[in-house]
Amino acid sequence: MAPPLFLLFLQLLVLVCSSSAQAQNISLGTSLTTQGPNKAWLSPSGDFAFGFRPIEDNSSFYLLAVWFDKISDKTVVWYAKTVEQEPQPIQVPSGSSLLLTSTGVLSLRDPTGREVWNPGAVGAPYASMLNTGNFVVAAAGGSSISWETFKNPTDTILISQVLSPGMALRSRLLTTDYSNGRFILKLEAQSAALYSMAVPSGNIYDSYWLKTGNITNLAFNMSGRIYISMDNGTQIDLASAAVGSMEDYYHRATLDQDGVFRQYVYPRKLSSLSSPTWTSVAIQPENICDAMTKVGSGTCGFNSYCMFDGTKNQTRCVCPEKYSFFDEQRKDKGCKPDFQPQSCDLDEAGAMGQYEFNLVNNVDWPLADYEQYTPIGMDECRQLCLIDCFCAVAVFHDNTCWKKKLPLSNGNMASTVQRTVFIK
Ligand SMILES: *[C@@H]1O[C@H](CO)[C@@H](O)[C@H](O)[C@H]1NC(C)=O
Ligand SMILES: *[C@@H]1O[C@H](CO)[C@@H](O)[C@H](O)[C@H]1NC(C)=O
Ligand SMILES: *[C@@H]1O[C@H](CO)[C@@H](O)[C@H](O)[C@H]1NC(C)=O
Ligand SMILES: *[C@@H]1O[C@H](CO)[C@@H](O)[C@H](O)[C@H]1NC(C)=O
Ligand SMILES: *[C@@H]1O[C@H](CO)[C@@H](O)[C@H](O)[C@H]1NC(C)=O
Ligand SMILES: *[C@@H]1O[C@H](CO)[C@@H](O)[C@H](O)[C@H]1NC(C)=O
Repeated sequence: MAPPLFLLFLQLLVLVCSSSAQAQNISLGTSLTTQGPNKAWLSPSGDFAFGFRPIEDNSSFYLLAVWFDKISDKTVVWYAKTVEQEPQPIQVPSGSSLLLTSTGVLSLRDPTGREVWNPGAVGAPYASMLNTGNFVVAAAGGSSISWETFKNPTDTILISQVLSPGMALRSRLLTTDYSNGRFILKLEAQSAALYSMAVPSGNIYDSYWLKTGNITNLAFNMSGRIYISMDNGTQIDLASAAVGSMEDYYHRATLDQDGVFRQYVYPRKLSSLSSPTWTSVAIQPENICDAMTKVGSGTCGFNSYCMFDGTKNQTRCVCPEKYSFFDEQRKDKGCKPDFQPQSCDLDEAGAMGQYEFNLVNNVDWPLADYEQYTPIGMDECRQLCLIDCFCAVAVFHDNTCWKKKLPLSNGNMASTVQRTVFIK
């Protein structure tokens, strides 16, 4: 039997009401749950959503996040993190909920009802997912904002967002793993810089991009320019591309897993020719493989080398021949040799029987040297490495020989690196 007409009408009414209600101010006593029916609050334009997002690699767990809702991959631009010295992304199990309580507190709760996160605002009259992508909690009285995602960034900034000294962007570990990654963009009173970090200790290494001065802020303006302002009026671009209008493109800029800060655009209108994707339009630094030259493994892991493809602005990590990745998913963990280390008891003849060299050009690991000979010939260089049980690689250039030890670090392959390399 067909359902009575008035029931259909009622369903339609509920649909219309709930979708229009989503685009308004979020009023007290409203909630979201991971299982729905309300999983997210939308901005009036529908471009952005705030709510629960299943984690790609771990789909029974959710992030509390802001994402681009109209594009198919629902790119996440913000996610809730704990409020401690070293903030960690919060992953809640299915059955969790988010409440804007009747007393004006935003509260994330696990399935047992225990609070796992709360941004600290009390007595808020309402909250709102704005068209800019900023999720805000209004302050008591309603005329100002007490908490907002734009002031608590994760790895991404959006147009009209401004960061002040004390704020930072932290990369995630992988596209699908929101754990803290290995890079940070820190804005401080006297500097703006990109640093690599040790995971999991959080120890900060040297910067690979640095500007000093009295920093006022970092802004992403309506023209798509991302720049740092100083109190004496100087402005320095972090990334800046002449990009299409707001009507034609979505915009974002993200500190990616490989340590590159990339500005991206995504066409709003679907083209019949190609499936839309985020395209990088500007990057910092220009070449991440050249930029990382200090302590730590670099953007690729130990024993690997880094190649930067300047036409696609993409980083590639490669293992030398006879080495392989510890973890194909996490190339930053580096490469392990597929062979036994050389015994230091082997004599010259023994080493000659067991080890050989693979020749590569245009690559170097500038930090792994432990001995240098000059002047010397190429054959002698190779021989000195072969009989030395500490020697993993011999590098030859211009009558100079460098012996390198494991682990090799900051490996960089580029046509500008003029080296002949023998990998034992
Ligand atoms: C949300 O509430 C504020 C303050 O009452 C009001 O100014 C604003 O217009 C409201 N926004 C929407 C989308 O209803
Ligand atoms: C999924 O996330 C939870 C919470 O962080 C974690 O305990 C669990 O190990 C993860 N599972 C997988 C398969 O990654
Ligand atoms: C402002 O300060 C920066 C950093 O010290 C300096 O490089 C720049 O030249 C100064 N600009 C002006 C206009 O004084
Ligand atoms: C930064 O500000 C301090 C205090 O106003 C001033 O003394 C100093 O000269 C400024 N430095 C630069 C590089 O502008
Ligand atoms: C963005 O910044 C640039 C450089 O300061 C300026 O030329 C441009 O007008 C700004 N755009 C907007 C919309 O403010
Ligand atoms: C790569 O980055 C450069 C420098 O920021 C930019 O000019 C170029 O358009 C980018 N190309 C691609 C394909 O992303």
